[in-house]
Amino acid sequence: MSKASVAAPANIAFVKYWGARDLERAIPVNPSISMTLARCVSHSTVEALAEGTPDEVWLAAEDGSLSPAAESFTRRVRGHLDALRHELGSHAGFRVGTRNNFPAAAGLASSASGFAALAIAVTKVLGLNPAPAELSLLARLSGSGSAARSVFGGYVEWPTPGSGDTESDGEGPAVPLAPAEHWHLRDVIAIVEAGAKEVSSLEGHRRAPSSPYFEKRLAQLPARLDTVRSAIASRDLAALGPGLEEEAIDLHLIAMSSRPPVFYWNPGTTAVLAAVRDLRHEGTAAFSTMDAGANVHVICEAADEPRVAEALARVPGVLSVLRDGVGSGPATAPDLF
Ligand code: DP6
Repeated sequence: MSKASVAAPANIAFVKYWGARDLERAIPVNPSISMTLARCVSHSTVEALAEGTPDEVWLAAEDGSLSPAAESFTRRVRGHLDALRHELGSHAGFRVGTRNNFPAAAGLASSASGFAALAIAVTKVLGLNPAPAELSLLARLSGSGSAARSVFGGYVEWPTPGSGDTESDGEGPAVPLAPAEHWHLRDVIAIVEAGAKEVSSLEGHRRAPSSPYFEKRLAQLPARLDTVRSAIASRDLAALGPGLEEEAIDLHLIAMSSRPPVFYWNPGTTAVLAAVRDLRHEGTAAFSTMDAGANVHVICEAADEPRVAEALARVPGVLSVLRDGVGSGPATAPDLF
């Protein structure tokens, strides 16, 4: 096969990856748990070129036209391709076309979906058929740890619990906790910032241990992880929600108290957090979480989604509202070129 195309979804972390034991290899300090999304998807088409041919990276438009990707993005994709070649014993060059089907200016992280799609498409074009756990490790080679979770649908934990010896802890692949059909949770995303964030997650991970609250959060995580795992297992939003919000606040508390500090929130963020608290006072079970950015993901049951989306759209500072929800993971996609 000389071309392969894959669509892989983004994910929203319920328990966050924040701080790395080995940043270059994306080995996290703590386990994370996420929900894979359905609608926010990155497409990647990979064509194998002759051995030694330089890699090409293109952005694909909806009409099938290709334009060269920005230098920094191309460098990151080439870095991932080098790691994949090394791991898979290939010397091929690759032509890569990529496209996100969520608004490019929505300020939503696309590295998890993009690098998961790239890793899977490369294995396909090389005629390999690795197990999902292997794909998770290959996606992580991008340096985007959250990409390790996006190779699975539904509810996902990463890494697999270690053996307890610190040597190998954190190095395992992601593992599915429950499939999408288990619980049809929705993620109503309030976009309050359209541009790219000023400080990358990579830099956030690097600064995290400088916060005086970093160790305090880690001490609370085993209990929080247990709560989140069992709330997912029993489909209990009342049990999941408070932990979800505490975790997001902790991440941002650590970011804001890192040296130098990282502020991701804007006034729209706090307005949405207040609107979600108001929704709860009125009896709607809706809970907020934010990754490393200003936008707010509001988790709720499907029946409450219309009410939540309408309420968020009215909040000052909200530019748009995206309705997404749990999805079933990567799939083969039509060729982009
Ligand atoms: C806050 O290093 O995976 O989203 O490469 O930008 O996707 P990207 O970041 P990565 O860190 C993710 C940080 C996070 C929390 C999470 O998704 O677990």
